[in-house]
Amino acid sequence: MKKTISILLFAALVLGLAACGSSAPAQPVSQSAPESSAAVVTPEPSAEASPEQQAATAPETPEETPEASGSKILVIYFSRTGEQYNVGVIDKGNTAIVAEMIASETGADLYEILPADDHYPLTYKELTDVGLQEQRDRARPAFAGELPDLSAYDTIFIGAPVWWGDWPMIMYTVFESTPISSKTLVPFSTHAGSGLSGFDRSLAAAYPDCTIAKGLAVAGTDAQNNQDKVRSSVESWLNDLGF
Ligand SMILES: Cc1cc2nc3c(=O)[nH]c(=O)nc-3n(C[C@H](O)[C@H](O)[C@H](O)COP(=O)(O)O)c2cc1C
Repeated sequence: MKKTISILLFAALVLGLAACGSSAPAQPVSQSAPESSAAVVTPEPSAEASPEQQAATAPETPEETPEASGSKILVIYFSRTGEQYNVGVIDKGNTAIVAEMIASETGADLYEILPADDHYPLTYKELTDVGLQEQRDRARPAFAGELPDLSAYDTIFIGAPVWWGDWPMIMYTVFESTPISSKTLVPFSTHAGSGLSGFDRSLAAAYPDCTIAKGLAVAGTDAQNNQDKVRSSVESWLNDLGF
């Protein structure tokens, strides 16, 4: 019921935005890799890279492996740039910003889920249409590359934007292709009003043998424009979780 209300509210937001005319970008921007001081476990494959090329981008230096970085915490996230709700055209995704904050506060490694075939539009209305269609189709869009060896980690933060009251379907591709047990999983979202939108419950359903810790929901507009506030929420949440 709560989810239905949040989807309806979100649909109203999307329609309102379309009716008012959105701040469509003159020049679409491309999806960018995250900039962070945290160790990135594998170089992020470009959307164009073939599976062979992606395999060839596996870490070459010992410094890039989780063992070498000494981190037992991983942050996995999906995030989009381009035009997003109420923030105009962005060159770093809202969820990417939060993911990087978590990594810098905890010393975690970061791993971005990128689509194998980047079919996602860079204009907001078109992106919402594609996201909705994927949800209706229960699509499982492929992601590029391979996740790092998760056995090296005790705690895995997993974050994404809320898409139509749920995880973007590509995250279910990740869940269904990535067995994880006996670890602590910590969900986080960015959103335009729907909060965590049941991310914790669906993560618990996907990973019944893991402990699901209390999640964090961050307004996408704050991630982009009010980072001091977000950093302080992230710090206090991490503190409550014992980090
Ligand atoms: C396809 C799509 C569906 C969305 N659905 C919702 C929703 O149901 N509820 C909500 O609060 N926000 C929704 N949003 C807004 C995003 O969750 C929000 O702008 C988020 O911060 C974007 O993060 P990103 O830049 O990391 O992709 C949606 C956005 C898109 C593109």
